[in-house]
Amino acid sequence: MRLSAKDISFKYSDEKYILKNINIQVESGEVVGITAPSGFGKTTLAKILAGYQKPECGQIILEGMDFIQRGYHPVQLIFQHPEKSINPKWKMRKVLSESELPSEKLMLSMGIQIAWLDRWPSELSGGELQRFCVLRALSEKTKFIIADEMTTMLDTITQTQIWKIVLDYAKLHRIGVVVISHDQALMERICDRIVDLTVASCCR
Ligand SMILES: Nc1ncnc2c1ncn2[C@@H]1O[C@H](COP(=O)(O)OP(=O)(O)OP(=O)(O)O)[C@@H](O)[C@H]1O
Ligand SMILES: [Mg+2]
Repeated sequence: MRLSAKDISFKYSDEKYILKNINIQVESGEVVGITAPSGFGKTTLAKILAGYQKPECGQIILEGMDFIQRGYHPVQLIFQHPEKSINPKWKMRKVLSESELPSEKLMLSMGIQIAWLDRWPSELSGGELQRFCVLRALSEKTKFIIADEMTTMLDTITQTQIWKIVLDYAKLHRIGVVVISHDQALMERICDRIVDLTVASCCR
């Protein structure tokens, strides 16, 4: 399976294009980094790849996927700010069971305490909430993960632990992963290749 962004262009207002003719491809099982300076449109591209934002021109294509099941998008976006992607009116058990409740083993390996399932999102720290967002994306229905500054708010040890779980899961289930980060060392360590968005407006 392949996730392709073909000739994507996007602007928020009439003034200036944020993205112009962007072409990026990610294969199942591949880990691809996207790098660019702040404000260059990485988060915008992440939202377009995951279907949150419609491009002005161009297409996002999931080759090899016959149909997209209603209610669950095979391209899962994990944001930098978990509080923006969790319903504040749901307890954590409900947040997690939107797809299927993960095994206790996986929860514990993510550093999630079972008692947290009965808490409201406002009763957890940003880092604790982010573990839920990451775990929520690790579903068998997920084909691609877009990780936009996914572990920026976590300490180095937790960051390493969470990336290991995500990458092991992705490898096992042949999930393609897009890594957006300002942490060059992290990208070089985990990515098969890194795309520079400032020069991505050509076919690759
Ligand atoms: N909803 C919006 N309306 C108008 N402009 C926006 C909106 N969201 C983002 N922008 C602008 O679009 C540009 C690209 O933003 P984006 O968040 O995609 O950048 P980024 O590369 O992810 O930056 P960072 O590395 O700081 O996260 C920025 O100049 C930003 O101010
Ligand atoms: Mg961003």
